[in-house]
Amino acid sequence: MSKEPKNPTRRALFKALGAATAVGATVGLLPSCGKKRDSGAANLSFAEIPHALDDRHHLPVGYNADLLLRWGDPLVPGATPFDPRALTPREQERRFGYNNDFIAFMPLDPGAGPGEGERHCKSRNSTRGLLCVNHEYTQPHLMFSGYNDEHSATRGVSAQHVAVEQAACGHSVVEIAKTDNGWRPVLDSPYNRRITLNTGMEIVGPAAGDRRLCTGADSSGKRVLGTVGNCAGGKTPWGTVLIAEEGFGGAFQGDPDAVADPVEARNHHAFGISPHNRNWGEYDRRFDISVEPNEPNRFGWMVEYDPYDPSSRPRKLTGLGRFQHEGFTLVCKPGAPVVAYGGDDDEHQFVYRFVSSGIYRPGDHTQNRQLLTEGTLYAARFDADGSGRWLPLLFGQGPLTPENGFRNQADVLIDTRRAAALLGATPMDRPEDVETNPVNDCTYVMLTKNKKRKHGDIDAANPRPRNVAGHVLEIVPPGKKGRRDHSSNRFKWNTFLLGGNPNAEDPNERGAYGQQSPGAISTHGWFANPDNVAFDPKGNMWIATDGCERFGFHDGLWAMATEGEMRAAPKHFFGCPRGAEVCGPEFTPDGTTLFVAVQHPADGGSSTFDHPMHRWPDGDPALPPRPSVLAIYRKDGRVIGS
Ligand code: FEO
Ligand code: CA
Ligand code: CA
Repeated sequence: MSKEPKNPTRRALFKALGAATAVGATVGLLPSCGKKRDSGAANLSFAEIPHALDDRHHLPVGYNADLLLRWGDPLVPGATPFDPRALTPREQERRFGYNNDFIAFMPLDPGAGPGEGERHCKSRNSTRGLLCVNHEYTQPHLMFSGYNDEHSATRGVSAQHVAVEQAACGHSVVEIAKTDNGWRPVLDSPYNRRITLNTGMEIVGPAAGDRRLCTGADSSGKRVLGTVGNCAGGKTPWGTVLIAEEGFGGAFQGDPDAVADPVEARNHHAFGISPHNRNWGEYDRRFDISVEPNEPNRFGWMVEYDPYDPSSRPRKLTGLGRFQHEGFTLVCKPGAPVVAYGGDDDEHQFVYRFVSSGIYRPGDHTQNRQLLTEGTLYAARFDADGSGRWLPLLFGQGPLTPENGFRNQADVLIDTRRAAALLGATPMDRPEDVETNPVNDCTYVMLTKNKKRKHGDIDAANPRPRNVAGHVLEIVPPGKKGRRDHSSNRFKWNTFLLGGNPNAEDPNERGAYGQQSPGAISTHGWFANPDNVAFDPKGNMWIATDGCERFGFHDGLWAMATEGEMRAAPKHFFGCPRGAEVCGPEFTPDGTTLFVAVQHPADGGSSTFDHPMHRWPDGDPALPPRPSVLAIYRKDGRVIGS
């Protein structure tokens, strides 16, 4: 499906762009990560789309979007047409899940077979691959008929609907191919797979087997059923995919203060577990903390699995800590430790880095698969002088001792947030994706917003009180471009951009972009609430937003260079239908296709299954709005954005 605006935007210019920000931040004026050559900007020559707010998606002229996968689409041959009114848990397990979020495109090498992930990845095949997609959460008031509003659907779903919800969240693996008729799922693929809240998984790493991970169903503390809150993620060059467990607390019901152990009561409060959460615990007792107070400790981890081996068991990686994981993305250099960066998506939470104990050696399949199980987790401190430190979360070091309630390294990892706070890490404005630009080797932190930031607790890295529009930081590890040392405990940082309207009256909401180059951005070039990020093969940054409707227009994608004259000067590329945010985004290795996940379309206000605000993408009166993945490409087949 392709919908193009009739009037490609005029490049109306802002005056005095970025000349002054609310806080005097020198956005874009500090030394950039790479050399000051003009890289990337000239490549972003697509016709910018306008800010809008309507019931369709928007693309630049000259682009197509194939509607690739929708909630309920079958992942096996011979399925009946999707009927959400007759949806059973068994049927949902054979179909694409709800609220698609993170997307990894994992290439398929026609000459390689199952279990040969590294070989598949090296092929860089950009016309056939596995699309690995998270399903973050379920919304029964939009999935099922008969609920009057979001509240009644959250607190009073039926046993059957709970079971469908548990089958609709998690993750999908779908083989896809580019055909003469565009991108299509391959329904008879042996790789197609659903991972749900009932998929058997292992718990590995330093906290595995700890008594705090044991439950009535698992006295080993090493086996768990399923994953939930799967927001963003990452992928490895050895052919595995990382999926994050973010808002897992909402799956659990009960009163933390009624839990006997005060350590767990504090822990459950920290993740929003309350008697008012959804009522899954009524039908599936492990989600009731009065029955299983340790079950929430088995969620909030990163999960690694092998999409090239459909029988493989996913593993929860305790070494990467337990919090509201947005995702973890990797920097893998042959002969060096693997470095992974991630964020804890909550107000005043932290940015993290993991450094593996082992060394990455391409081709060493067995060793590489253990790299994320042993290593050191760090939290970031951003100092006012533009320098920063990675602070190790190690039991027995600094404040991480029995005097502060830590028995061992398992406690440090299960209560990562408390450990990072004690170390003096910098509380941030909701860290979302943290990802390294493969071209300039610098790392970018999406900070989506933080309305709880008070005037009294602003700092250099979180410079706006009541931060409604979010911002992006740039982390510069020591070393030269391409050879930066991501395992160093020191770094430099600067503010890459401040979200928001650059002409906003309220100085605390005023955005700042780029380097005041004339024509740097148009009236449609600004955005707010950066959430996910991707880099194209030329190193241009593509930011996906979650929250722009507050500012009067759709969420979408904005693309920009990270170096040169057009550094941090965004152009608007994609817009969502009303109510949706956009997630993913993911390029094929050759940059000719861009996959995006349109999440929770028609969400908001009084919108329900029976009375939705619109019915994107089908427009069929028999179907509700459906979260869907689009495959975007140029009609002339050339690289996206250029
Ligand atoms: Fe699930 Fe952090 O957005
Ligand atoms: Ca996100
Ligand atoms: Ca989001």
